Amino acid sequence: MFESRRPDQSFEPLLELRAVSAGYPTGRVLYDLDLTVGDGEVVALLGRNGMGKTTTLLTIMGRIRPETGSISFAGRRLNELPPFRIARLGIGLVPEGRQVFANLTVRENLLAVARVPRGDRPGWTVEAVFDLFPRLAERADQLAHRLSGGEQQMLAIGRALMTNPRLLLLDEATEGLAPLVRREIWNVLGQLKKDGHSILVVDKNVAALAQVADRFCVLEKGRLVWEGRPEALLAARDVVDRYLGV
Ligand SMILES: Nc1ncnc2c1ncn2[C@@H]1O[C@H](COP(=O)(O)OP(=O)(O)OP(=O)(O)O)[C@@H](O)[C@H]1O
Ligand SMILES: [Mg+2]
Repeated sequence: MFESRRPDQSFEPLLELRAVSAGYPTGRVLYDLDLTVGDGEVVALLGRNGMGKTTTLLTIMGRIRPETGSISFAGRRLNELPPFRIARLGIGLVPEGRQVFANLTVRENLLAVARVPRGDRPGWTVEAVFDLFPRLAERADQLAHRLSGGEQQMLAIGRALMTNPRLLLLDEATEGLAPLVRREIWNVLGQLKKDGHSILVVDKNVAALAQVADRFCVLEKGRLVWEGRPEALLAARDVVDRYLGV
């Protein structure tokens, strides 16, 4: 039941998965997955626990090899590339569980991953990240393991931005965070969208995702079962109950 199979015409395709199947030695998880993120588009990947959202992001990053299908990014085929090459092409992942450098300070975490921007775009700086997350500025010289979960998530997002990605992937953007921090993360994602960033975001908060996403993609047992505008999903109670209900 597809509201539209194609992304909005106003976005040039940036990331394209075509008929991708992938999984683990214990078994296949993704089946025939078509997924597109346009340049400047924010796409939300939804689905209940264990449906293959993280596996999708890891496959895009090259940590899991697609068994069939093709993945391309900015016109380049990613299938055979090692993860570090894929990252260097401009895909930044904010992983589930954050994975910041615990024994570096906030500032060191940001500087450790800084990369020169492509083309003539102005690159992210530590100061720009601090403008986005004032809390990080206050914690600049703290070791990362001393930060709260919310601050660590801000740092994880800041680190991904410091690599100047053309596409940002976020896995469980706000899971386990306090309501105020969640709000701040959503505000920042809205800000990044306004600034033209391309984002593929996984989260369970449908209402918050609807505020920032241009398009929703719903996974069920590794298959894309619904795709369309956020408003259309919110109006389709049966789809919400069937694929996202607990
Ligand atoms: N390292 C692994 N080895 C084998 N199977 C795995 C591995 N990681 C995940 N799986 C399985 O793959 C399926 C999809 O998992 P995945 O983590 O992609 O789901 P998810 O949609 O991200 O779920 P969640 O909402 O809980 O994060 C699940 O059945 C899971 O048990
Ligand atoms: Mg997951």
